[in-house]
Amino acid sequence: MIRPILIHPDPRLKKVCEPVAEITPELRALAADMLETMYDAPGIGLAAPQVGVTKRLIVMDCIKDGPPEPLILFNPRIIWASEDVSTFEEGCLSIPDQYAEVKRPAEVQVRWLDETGTEQERQFSGLWATCVQHEIDHLDGKLFIDYLGPLKRQMITRKMEKLKRERARAV
Ligand code: NI
Repeated sequence: MIRPILIHPDPRLKKVCEPVAEITPELRALAADMLETMYDAPGIGLAAPQVGVTKRLIVMDCIKDGPPEPLILFNPRIIWASEDVSTFEEGCLSIPDQYAEVKRPAEVQVRWLDETGTEQERQFSGLWATCVQHEIDHLDGKLFIDYLGPLKRQMITRKMEKLKRERARAV
């Protein structure tokens, strides 16, 4: 089921999300819905707060060409980050059509629970590294525009407020 994606500004996008204590069938269904919503958007990552659920769950697939590689990460934690940084032009499904360059560690080691509750660990690099850090930020109420200067951030926020007013009128 495709779920509506919250648009910034929204208080639910600013919350620190709760860890998942047990991976229930409801949470597995939520993860499946999030993947469907992400592919439909289309996007390469989605965090639970973006669909209004303030739990520590993200989904990702950064494969552009080739067979899909969906990843479901409950309680993801960065346990190591490289000193090397890389810059990517980031966007966000909660901030449509706005892009900006963000500098982040080029490689990160991440530990999480998969949908069966098994602990997984993997080193991410390239686009995957940027994406996983962007999504984990969402779980701490942080958006990519928080890395920008205040003027740029306010400009984007005002555009989003306008977009939300227009969408509300269109319904
Ligand atoms: Ni995002």
